[in-house]
Amino acid sequence: MQNTSLVIEATGLEKSFSGRAAVCGIDLRIPKGGCFGLLGPNGAGKTTTLRMVLGQCHMSGGQMQVLGQSMPAAKKAVRAHMGVVPQLDNLDPDFTVLENLLVYAAYFGLRRRDVEKRAQDLLAFVELSDRARTRIGELSGGMKRRLSIARSLINDPEVLILDEPTTGLDPQVRHLIWNRLRSLKRDGKTLILTTHYMEEAERLCDHIAIMDHGRIIAEGAPRELIRGYSEPDVIEVQGAPAALEQQLAALAGGRVERIGETLYCYTRAARSAVAILEPMSDITYLHRPANLEDVFLKLTGRDMRE
Ligand SMILES: Nc1ncnc2c1ncn2[C@@H]1O[C@H](COP(=O)(O)OP(=O)(O)OP(=O)(O)O)[C@@H](O)[C@H]1O
Ligand SMILES: [Mg+2]
Repeated sequence: MQNTSLVIEATGLEKSFSGRAAVCGIDLRIPKGGCFGLLGPNGAGKTTTLRMVLGQCHMSGGQMQVLGQSMPAAKKAVRAHMGVVPQLDNLDPDFTVLENLLVYAAYFGLRRRDVEKRAQDLLAFVELSDRARTRIGELSGGMKRRLSIARSLINDPEVLILDEPTTGLDPQVRHLIWNRLRSLKRDGKTLILTTHYMEEAERLCDHIAIMDHGRIIAEGAPRELIRGYSEPDVIEVQGAPAALEQQLAALAGGRVERIGETLYCYTRAARSAVAILEPMSDITYLHRPANLEDVFLKLTGRDMRE
């Protein structure tokens, strides 16, 4: 029986490109409301997964229900209730900011006179009202991203899919977008987000799935993941001699990792570690709580992808 409290329910979802597996049989259960984060290194399969959810790319295997309907058969009906901010902006350069919203609305069969007010409201929502008549080529990257978000909302979607909505944006724009996404969450929309900014995921997401090599390798609320996969404290030490590395490694309940000149001490005994470090004048160190980035690096490793 279908579960109506889930916006997406997928089992064994697979995708291969010319025999190469990009998504290797993942299960997804995304509840209505809140923000679901799909994290993973470059090439992990995040965009491919989202494209299957939207029916933009064929599933090689598995089963999926979106908004209670079987995919890909129901993709047209489902698409009417979804908003999409793609990884790469695909705004129409031949049109102005406002026209981009109106032309996009036409794809959903929405009539111009019905959406003009909504388009103006959405431009105000992303603080682009004064750019309504500007051509796309004259917009900055941040403005394009904000317009893509406004455009994704033109059909008043139940579910909003955002593939790296803040990549390459300055802190001002990023904070504005976070603010707007929180307000959409409060309105009861379901957000599905990918990001490489762990801080963003920690702030916005209620539930996170970490993907690597086409598989989901960990899932949970951000706090749960940090508690479950990392020691509570991290001390980053610069200029540590080998003897200090051994001394820190010998402290109970922790692990030490050296990356170039930096020693990462993940520990349950931060006070003892700091007591060792404090009197040492020839090193510098930073003591901080563990975060989602620590979990991400622990689970997916430090090797570069692709
Ligand atoms: N149209 C395609 N044809 C062939 N291979 C593809 C295609 N789209 C994606 N892939 C491959 O599938 C794998 C997953 O790609 P995908 O774009 O889903 O990763 P991602 O997690 O979104 O990465 P990123 O963080 O870089 O956006 C990669 O190895 C990629 O090269
Ligand atoms: Mg991607």
